[in-house]
Amino acid sequence: MRVAIVGATGAVGHELLRVLENSTLHFDELQLYASPRSAGTTLPFNGEELTVRATPEGAIDADLILASAGGSISKALAPAWVAGGALVIDNSSAFRYDPEVPLVVPEVNGEAALGHKGIIANPNCTTAVAVVAVAPLHRAFGVKRMIVSTYQATSGAGQKGIEELLTQTHRVLHDQPAQAQVFAHPIPFNVIPHIDAFQDNGYTKEEMKVAWETRKIIGDDSIRVSCTAVRIPTLRTHSEAITLELERPATPEEARELLRQAAGVEVRDDPGARLYPMPLTASGKYDVEVGRIRASLVFDGGLDLFVAGDQLLKGAALNAVQIAEYLQEKGALKGRVAG
Ligand code: A2P
Repeated sequence: MRVAIVGATGAVGHELLRVLENSTLHFDELQLYASPRSAGTTLPFNGEELTVRATPEGAIDADLILASAGGSISKALAPAWVAGGALVIDNSSAFRYDPEVPLVVPEVNGEAALGHKGIIANPNCTTAVAVVAVAPLHRAFGVKRMIVSTYQATSGAGQKGIEELLTQTHRVLHDQPAQAQVFAHPIPFNVIPHIDAFQDNGYTKEEMKVAWETRKIIGDDSIRVSCTAVRIPTLRTHSEAITLELERPATPEEARELLRQAAGVEVRDDPGARLYPMPLTASGKYDVEVGRIRASLVFDGGLDLFVAGDQLLKGAALNAVQIAEYLQEKGALKGRVAG
């Protein structure tokens, strides 16, 4: 059982290495790939230094490829990886809307992964964090409409997003101009309601991803979703204010109780004790924090809630590894573990 990470030197690649160290996934070999710039460098894994190789143009000799080098690399190379016999779990948006490609969050629709034809898509990070909290409520009460406002960390734009926040903050604090490169405007001491490209309908692609992917993962095209996606000057963890209109009325107590039982969720909801979801507490955590659960003042029987989830983990690396673990548990992952 040979596993390869493509994009191993990136922000998500870094998390994949850490998650795999603690994973129940059984494998014999881990190969690391990135751009030719990184070839020959090493990354630590389980106390060893593994050498990074340049990503080849064609097939990779592995059973499972965890791809996180961006949409253009995945689009160009995943067909060759699949033709070479590998299963690809792809973190980019390249294949997410292909009806042949399952889009999977194991707690919500793990069984969809079993129907793959060589590629499984890992969802958009904002969507993955939201559906962990919303899917159990949908199953119990039926979500009709979902209105989301996001507070997204700079690492959503990869390692270069992290560096831009740190560099610009240093410059601003030293009375130097912040030079925007990754984000459309300076990010320190600012919020930017612009993530990914604007679409003809005035929404950004990030906002539309939340709508398209929520429906595909939950498996209900009738749910109406509207999102406003905003970049904020934090390093990691996406937070989201979510308003739900429900088919059947739910009280906050019922929602809290249900979410306490839900996989991948930590209910953190005691405002009197100043306990609610925050990037400070959710970063590095596998569970998505959910709190501020209250009765909607707009939709009768509906709910308002606030979630914070480490988007490099549940929104990316952790979810990808959980998909592989799920398949291995079901005996549906190719490759034999030696011995
Ligand atoms: P490298 O570090 O060598 O540039 P992030 O999302 O944090 O920006 O990371 C992107 C990942 O994708 C990095 O590991 C990066 O490698 C990798 N990458 C970028 N361009 C290529 C490419 N042309 N071929 C393979 N990997 C690439």
